[in-house]
Amino acid sequence: QPIHLADYQPPPFLVDHVALTFRLAPSATRVIAHIRFRPNPSATPGHDLRLDGEGLTLISASLNGAPITAHPDATGLTIPAQDLPEGGFDWHCEVEIAPEGNTALEGLYMSRGMYCTQCEAEGFRKITFYPDRPDVMASFEVRIESDLPVLLSNGNPAATGQGWAEWHDPHPKPAYLFALVAGDLVATSDRFTTMEGRDIALNIWVRKGDEDKTAYAMDALKRSMLWDEQVYGRAYDLDVFNIVAVDDFNMGAMENKGLNIFNSRYVLASPQTATDNDYASIERIIAHEYFHNWTGNRITCRDWFQLSLKEGLTVFRDQQFMGDMRSHAVKRIEDVLTLRARQFREDDGPLAHPVRPESYVEINNFYTATVYEKGAELIRMLHLLVGEDRYRAALALYFDRHDGQACTIEDWIAVFEEAAGRDLSQFKRWYEQAGTPRVDVSDAWQEGTYTLTLRQHTPPSPGQPLKEPLVIPVAMGLLGADGRELLPTQVLELDSPEQSFSFTDLPERPVASLLRGFSAPVALNQRLRSEDRALMLAYDTDPYNRFESGRALARDILHAMVLEGATPGPDYLQALRVMVTDDALDPAFRALALHIPGQDDLASSLHAAGHVPDPDAIQAARTTALRLIAEDLRPDLLRVYDEMQTPGPYSPDAKDAGRRALRVQAVSLLARADEGAKAAELFARADNMTEQLGAWGALLGIGKGQAEGAQFYRQWANDRLVVDKWFSAQVMYAAPATAAALAQELTQHPDFDWKNPNRFRSVIGALGANPAGFHAKDGAGYRLVADWLIRLDGVNPQAAARVSTLFETWRRYDTTRQTLMRAALNRIMAQDNLSRDMGEMVGRMLG
Ligand code: ARG
Ligand code: ZN
Repeated sequence: QPIHLADYQPPPFLVDHVALTFRLAPSATRVIAHIRFRPNPSATPGHDLRLDGEGLTLISASLNGAPITAHPDATGLTIPAQDLPEGGFDWHCEVEIAPEGNTALEGLYMSRGMYCTQCEAEGFRKITFYPDRPDVMASFEVRIESDLPVLLSNGNPAATGQGWAEWHDPHPKPAYLFALVAGDLVATSDRFTTMEGRDIALNIWVRKGDEDKTAYAMDALKRSMLWDEQVYGRAYDLDVFNIVAVDDFNMGAMENKGLNIFNSRYVLASPQTATDNDYASIERIIAHEYFHNWTGNRITCRDWFQLSLKEGLTVFRDQQFMGDMRSHAVKRIEDVLTLRARQFREDDGPLAHPVRPESYVEINNFYTATVYEKGAELIRMLHLLVGEDRYRAALALYFDRHDGQACTIEDWIAVFEEAAGRDLSQFKRWYEQAGTPRVDVSDAWQEGTYTLTLRQHTPPSPGQPLKEPLVIPVAMGLLGADGRELLPTQVLELDSPEQSFSFTDLPERPVASLLRGFSAPVALNQRLRSEDRALMLAYDTDPYNRFESGRALARDILHAMVLEGATPGPDYLQALRVMVTDDALDPAFRALALHIPGQDDLASSLHAAGHVPDPDAIQAARTTALRLIAEDLRPDLLRVYDEMQTPGPYSPDAKDAGRRALRVQAVSLLARADEGAKAAELFARADNMTEQLGAWGALLGIGKGQAEGAQFYRQWANDRLVVDKWFSAQVMYAAPATAAALAQELTQHPDFDWKNPNRFRSVIGALGANPAGFHAKDGAGYRLVADWLIRLDGVNPQAAARVSTLFETWRRYDTTRQTLMRAALNRIMAQDNLSRDMGEMVGRMLG
């Protein structure tokens, strides 16, 4: 049942052109397809024609105009080679589908009265019979017949009339980029002129009533278009660019050619309803989907094993863009925090897989932090290893050579080898080996010479017991005892299991600032004294390592609190105070520095240090640490709280957002020293969602906020996206012992629409953000999640399988919890009609 990369065969038939007609009706949509096939010159001749198709009612079919009887099976239909005309031929077929009953949100489905599609990865086969694989690329013409006022598809509008519209997409594309939307929608419109002089109509389509929430997305789109021209020399290539916001959507968004479809939470924003983080996500995802036009659409993937070819690169590009728009230092810290929270967690457990997987059962299970975020790290390392100029040359060659093709990681590597004149065969292992490499550091000092010894080791992962050494770029510098930089940043290349690097003529024994900017996705194991960490926190020239030293200090203290009941010493508190009060530092950076490591982060670092994490002890230690920090820093926090107001009209820009982040961080800490007085005050006064939600969260964090929660709901009951926040905040901040019961109770709330993925995640998924609650020792959290996964799996396997990753760390815990989690997983596994998605995930987790 698994599909293997090694089994790849080129498609026996290519498609030159596709013409589709949709007669839309909720329970009986007709799809009429005319497809021009020809034998693939680079495949062996004489193949049967195999078309993918799932859940399609075949009405009629013909070949070159001659009717045929075809007999579809569960996954498609086959026309035997002997029944095929010589050479190229026209396939015609009509099928019926029922978008209204499509709860899996894959293929053509309905969301609150509007039709929309999601075809990546393999949804097109639920629309018509087709070779649904990315290496089959064709131009498309689409005719939509419906009484709905707005009818959209890919490409340029061709013609329109009463009850119909036609769209032509001249750029050959794989079927996964097909899209159709029909609904009673309104647009916010604008224009953009490309560097090539093409005048483009931009539209953001939303449901009536949401049109006052699209301005930021439009602004982000125009900035993305300009940025891709200026930085990558890539211009847009159609006359229109449409974006549609949809309420029911499994993922974040989708880069369909000329018709991007978004989860409405990543489009709609107003100061009162969206947090600064929401604004930043909108900016990032709008850019990400737009950037896919070149890295994904013009150059696509040969097969789904190559997914990171487009995703890793496009994530790297959206990270660069966000750094340029906001702050590189802050963006890098945030990206690393996400990488370690999600990807390291994945890489360290039963779901670990390489950036380019070698097999899968259900490809939708591989849209992961590894393929996306670790994939982006690999490109960041290439950039660092070859340098900015050669990186640009490589990308220019990539676009030039591969435009219009479906490519592989090998093609990508070859471009870099040529443009940079460098052998990358060892580097390629990064794409092939799963697991987070560990780099152990030791050092020696003798008469002016400092020697660093680095050892690398990648632990075994499922199916990969032994690992080869990788090329690990270690950006580093040396600091003197007074904080002066003795050696500015340089990049060491660690490419063997063990290597030493010497630095001579030094005036004193230095402190090594290693892995600056997090130059490689590795777990660095460097024993530093607290004084050295404090020195780096105060003086490192690399903002990431400044942050990281503070975090390492906090982690060491929290470990000692969990394991030995220690308390934070004055050094740490003093270091924090310096960060918080240093007005020369970016407030966004100070806000991040005030975040102590979260529960899951501590569970994983304790596990890595050889301990069995106790979620209750971790939660208790964090609570104590937060209270002690708050009491110690109270006057400073009060000052920051007052200073970080943002007078004037709301702006979502990085400067104001950073001030609000610091203010909210200060108020949440203060709540632990003033019983929530300031938080209640902020909640009452806030005129924006960042501060309102931040203040409410601060109150929930100390077991208060009941009245505020009721008020919040009354105020926002009609705004779906804010109601999602109302649900998730309660679950995230619930006391561990009652979190599962509260989540259970919320599932009974009239607004709990469990078939809506955002809403499901806002209650069930939110338990994952409350680790002590999810891992409550009576097993209530596990049971609740398993119950709901089973239920959701029956209607939306893809969404359910994603949430199942709540269990991926189950082997880290004590036997009681392990037994309970294994039982929950076994119970899911034992269901009749378990989906392929869920079956694969649970199977891998059970091992
Ligand atoms: N290509 C989309 C993006 O990264 C994600 C689509 C994933 N969809 C899915 N069903 N796996 O923006
Ligand atoms: Zn993407």
